[in-house]
Amino acid sequence: MIIEPKTRGFICLTAHPKGCEQNVLKQIEYIKSKPTTNGPKKVLVIGASTGFGLASRITSAYGSNASTIGVFFEKPPKEGRPASPGWYNSAAFENQAHKDGLYAKSINGDAFSNEIKDQTLKLIKEDLGEIDMLVYSLASPVRTHPNTGKRYKSVLKPIGDTFTNNTVDFHTGEVKEISIEPCSGDDIDNTIAVMGGEDWQMWIDLLKSENVLSKDFKTVAYSYIGPSLTEAVYRKGTIGRAKDDLEATAFKITESLKDINGKGYVSVNKALVTQASSAIPVIPLYISLLYKVMKEKGIHEGCIEQIERLFNERLYAEDLQLDEQGRIRVDDWEMRDDVQAKVLELWQEATTETLPTIGDLEGYKIDFFNLFGFDVEGVDYDKDVDEMVVIPGLQ
Ligand code: NAD
Ligand code: NA
Repeated sequence: MIIEPKTRGFICLTAHPKGCEQNVLKQIEYIKSKPTTNGPKKVLVIGASTGFGLASRITSAYGSNASTIGVFFEKPPKEGRPASPGWYNSAAFENQAHKDGLYAKSINGDAFSNEIKDQTLKLIKEDLGEIDMLVYSLASPVRTHPNTGKRYKSVLKPIGDTFTNNTVDFHTGEVKEISIEPCSGDDIDNTIAVMGGEDWQMWIDLLKSENVLSKDFKTVAYSYIGPSLTEAVYRKGTIGRAKDDLEATAFKITESLKDINGKGYVSVNKALVTQASSAIPVIPLYISLLYKVMKEKGIHEGCIEQIERLFNERLYAEDLQLDEQGRIRVDDWEMRDDVQAKVLELWQEATTETLPTIGDLEGYKIDFFNLFGFDVEGVDYDKDVDEMVVIPGLQ
C-alpha cells in the first residue's frame, strides 16, 4: 500500500515501514563507529521499540555485540492498516541484527503484567541463562496493577496552582497561552503507580529471585528534570512525583542487589521529540527553542547520541559523574547555563510570528514525522510498500 501520515492531535495514526527501517539503520551506523569498551553482553530492554529504549538496544547490540531481548507494546499491522512505528523499528532492528549474527528476540505485550514478566524470564533462562544489564525505558499513560487488577491512569498536571504559560501547536505553528488546572483526588498517587519505580523493582525482584542476574549486573531507568520554565507542569507536577519515586527506586534496587554487586541507576536525559513528550503541554515550545540553541552551539543530540554517551562516557566508563542526588546526567549540555539563558531569552520573544525564525519549529516537525517513519531521507513515499512486516524474533 501507499502509506501517508495521518495525524490526529499529538499522534500520528500511521507509520511507514521503510522510513522506520532507515531510521534504525542510521542509528546502527552511528553506533558501529563508536564501540563500547567493556559494554554489556546480555541485555534486556523494557520499552525497546522506540525512543531511548530502542537507542539503548541498538547501543548494546552494536556497541558491544550484546544479545538483546526487547519487550514492548506495539500494534501489529493488519491488511491495509500499518503497524505502530515501534513494530517496524523492531522488525528492522532484528532483521539487521540477525544478518550480522547477533542474537535478538522480542516480546510484544504489557510489561506491567505477570504474564509478560514470566514469558521474559523463561526466554532469558532458555536462551541467555542470565543478563548483565536491564534498561527500563517504559513510557505509558496507563498501568493495570498485576496483583490487584486495578487500572491506574497517569496525568500531566501541576500540583497546587493552575499553571499558565505559552505552548505551540507544532502542526499549525500557533503559539498560544494555555492554562492547566492543578491535579486533584488521587492524581499524584495514580501517576506514581504508572510512571514511578514499582514496576521496575518488580522486574528486578523477579529476575533476582530466579538467579538470572549476573554478578556486577547493572540496571538503568530514564528520568527528566528540565528548566524552571516547565517545572510546574513537569518536575514539580504529577509526573515529577513519579520521577522522584523512580529515582528513589534506583537506590532500593542497588540495596537489594548487594550480594551480586548489582547497581541500579537513573540517567537524566535530554528533552527530545518522542511520542511521549509530544503530548506534554509547553514542552513542544521549549523543545523547539532548545533545538535551535543547541544546534547553533553544535551540541544537539538525538536519542542515539544521548545513549551512546551514556554508555561510553558514564555507565561503562571510569567515572559515572553522578550529581549530588546520585543520578547520571546526560542532560548536562541541555542544562548548561549559556543554553538555558538563551532559551529563556527566546521564550520571552516567542510568538506565532517569531517562532519560525527564533525557534526550530521545522526541526521539531521533522523529528515528529520521523518518529513514524515519514520525512525520512532516501525513502520513496510514492512507492508501494508491504505493511504486513514480520518481526523475525518475536516470541
Ligand atoms: P517512547 O514513547 O518513545 O517509548 C516508550 C516505550 O515503552 C516503547 O517501546 C513502548 O512500546 C513501550 N511501552 C509502553 N507501554 C508499555 C507496556 N505497557 N508494556 C510494554 N512496553 C510498553 O518514550 P521515550 O521518550 O523513549 O521514554 C522512555 C523513558 O525516557 C521514559 O521514562 C521517559 O520519561 C524518559 N525520558 C524521556 C525524555 C524525552 O524528552 N522524551 C527525556 C528524558 C527522559
Ligand atoms: Na523507549
